[in-house]
Amino acid sequence: MRALIPRCWLLRERSVGKEWQEGIVLNHQYTRYSLATRSSGRGWQLLGFTVAALAGFLSWAPVARAQDSTIRAIQNIFDPLSAPAETLYQISILVMAVCAGIFLVVGGLLTYAIVRYRRRGPEDDHEEPPQVYGSAAIELAWTVPPILIVVMLVLVTARTIGEIQHPKMTEAAEEIRVIGHRFWWEVRYPKHDVVTANEIHVPLSSRTNHVPTQMILESADVIHGFWVPQLNGKTMLVPNYRNTMWIEPYATGIYLGNCTVLCGQQHANMLIRVVVDTPEVYQKWLAAQKQVPVSDAQVAEGQQQFISNSCGTCHHIENSRGATGVFGPDLTHFSGRATLGSGVAPNDNEHLRSWLTNPQDLKPGCLMPNMQLNSKQVDSILAYLRTLK
Ligand code: CUA
Repeated sequence: MRALIPRCWLLRERSVGKEWQEGIVLNHQYTRYSLATRSSGRGWQLLGFTVAALAGFLSWAPVARAQDSTIRAIQNIFDPLSAPAETLYQISILVMAVCAGIFLVVGGLLTYAIVRYRRRGPEDDHEEPPQVYGSAAIELAWTVPPILIVVMLVLVTARTIGEIQHPKMTEAAEEIRVIGHRFWWEVRYPKHDVVTANEIHVPLSSRTNHVPTQMILESADVIHGFWVPQLNGKTMLVPNYRNTMWIEPYATGIYLGNCTVLCGQQHANMLIRVVVDTPEVYQKWLAAQKQVPVSDAQVAEGQQQFISNSCGTCHHIENSRGATGVFGPDLTHFSGRATLGSGVAPNDNEHLRSWLTNPQDLKPGCLMPNMQLNSKQVDSILAYLRTLK
């Protein structure tokens, strides 16, 4: 199992807590989930894909599994839980089935020829087999079927691209702007005037009652890639350009994803969490995000330290004079988020203290500098940040 985990994750295990370690390992492991939740192993699953595809690709549809608040940690295109991801899954199965068929025909004929016409020792007649030239039947047999197969794949691919790139968005569709930064995600809800970071809440959809979420993807610096495999394919975030994609998740829970374009030292720690909520929970979340933080006299010292140490030059906090920055994540509802530094550590006091003392310890190369705060300043700023829910 450990051999499957990238080395950098093992190194991190030393600096973080047990529970979090599980989440990180789950994020990057490929076996435990399938063994624990599936009755069949991966080999059988592959065979199953082929059989399912041969049995009737068009009539087939995966069943949505509704579980609440599950960490959907398996990053697997073969376990789609959203409309476009399902379409991509179906075309992958079709292409794999066609390729498997071609492999079986070509490999079978080759094996037959090798066995049937092998050298047979002393009784071998050492004669060449009959040489056939210019047989119209053979030429047609190996030209026409491949052309038909390629044309069929082109047509299916074109239809799939059309379905995914030109969805019919209704008025009710949610709209989210995701802006890639080195090394975090800015998330804006223009219809609701809500701004957050790294953890993207979206409403649940279903096959009968469609609630799509349109995503506008942009970049503030270099090219990043947005990929949550169970929701949709990869889309790049390109500076000075607007890409779009959409998702329509069929199950609640927390979906994990990563930045997929090498964007700098902390590229691997630009993790994405998409939280799919039921409509009621989603509306509650939006309402909470619109709340303005109330000033709390008990943490006035922390707020003062936050401003005087220039934290507000990069970070924005609603209703806080001097905290108007745009370079770093919006902290208005910071303590409502589950993770720190775009998923690099859990948002608990221990890790927050370490982050405030020196962010370069948890995320070396991140753009937040070590502000050389003493432990008293760290504690007061921590207390202030904890009131931002
Ligand atoms: Cu952002 Cu890689």
